[in-house]
Amino acid sequence: MRGARAAGVPHRPPGPTGSPVTVHEEPLAGGNTGVVVRVGDTVRRQAGPWTPAVHALLDHLETVGFDGAPRALGTDELGREVASYVEGVAGTLGPQPLAPEFQTIEACRAIGAWVRAFHDAQAGFAPDPALPWRVVPGRALRPGEVVVHHDVGTYNTVLRPDGSFAVIDFDFASPGAPVEDLAYVLWSWTPLWGESAAVRREMGAVTMADRLHKFAAVLDGYAADADLRAQVPDAVLQCMTDHSRTVEELAAQGDPAFVRMVADGHAEHPLRDAEWFASRRELFAAAIAPSGVRGSE
Ligand SMILES: Nc1ncnc2c1ncn2[C@@H]1O[C@H](COP(=O)(O)OP(=O)(O)OP(=O)(O)O)[C@@H](O)[C@H]1O
Ligand SMILES: [Mg+2]
Repeated sequence: MRGARAAGVPHRPPGPTGSPVTVHEEPLAGGNTGVVVRVGDTVRRQAGPWTPAVHALLDHLETVGFDGAPRALGTDELGREVASYVEGVAGTLGPQPLAPEFQTIEACRAIGAWVRAFHDAQAGFAPDPALPWRVVPGRALRPGEVVVHHDVGTYNTVLRPDGSFAVIDFDFASPGAPVEDLAYVLWSWTPLWGESAAVRREMGAVTMADRLHKFAAVLDGYAADADLRAQVPDAVLQCMTDHSRTVEELAAQGDPAFVRMVADGHAEHPLRDAEWFASRRELFAAAIAPSGVRGSE
């Protein structure tokens, strides 16, 4: 759902001498859950109890030189999260058409490679168990786990002028298995929903052959081994049902953005997508088997 956003309202924080300074805030369209504005080279977004954990992760990524994510820049005088603005074209999920650059096999390979680099860049990062994530409490990573972004949709990705992708909106990051990020990418980028949903989400027509190649390309981009490939079909279904449940739970807790999302079908659509995928599961599994359809063809 693309929420209606406030028109560009200048806001007036106190200047250094207490006099008001007008700062131009440009609303950024494309999000579902919060009001996001651009102020100069920064974006301002709703902060929450999860923000310190997310910023610790973003700080680590910056320290190790991973540049595929915004930089965390603290919070502003209104308590909003401040992050660096990533220049480029942001992906969408309707109502405007998804840019063709996000719908190619190369894009799928590149986003798979982004996930790989994001996971690899976490070597040596130990999240502070005292810091909560948005939907789960803080905890140490278990063996084999990483901090999973959980929301690497086309709509949270920016195509930069140099042709590389950066991913934004780490609100749903939390510890988990690497395959969880791949499952979400496969769902969004292949995409794993029926034709009518593809049209509704402004992705145009996608053939099954194209979907199978994209599915394989994501895993090739990640350099997924046989064990990981074997986990993928179950992980995709789990991801869809978990997503539906999370939307329901946040709505039940009274979060207005999620109440709106449930009303707009965002708890229900993932379950339909899961049915769509379940009935084609063997085709997709074959495409990522070592002798299956290869994304590089
Ligand atoms: N760091 C950033 N750099 C560039 N653009 C950004 C950045 N953060 C957000 N945007 C823009 O603002 C839009 C909404 O941002 P964001 O995804 O953070 O909002 P949201 O409401 O949390 O979204 P979601 O629907 O994923 O919950 C994005 O689609 C993108 O166009
Ligand atoms: Mg977003």
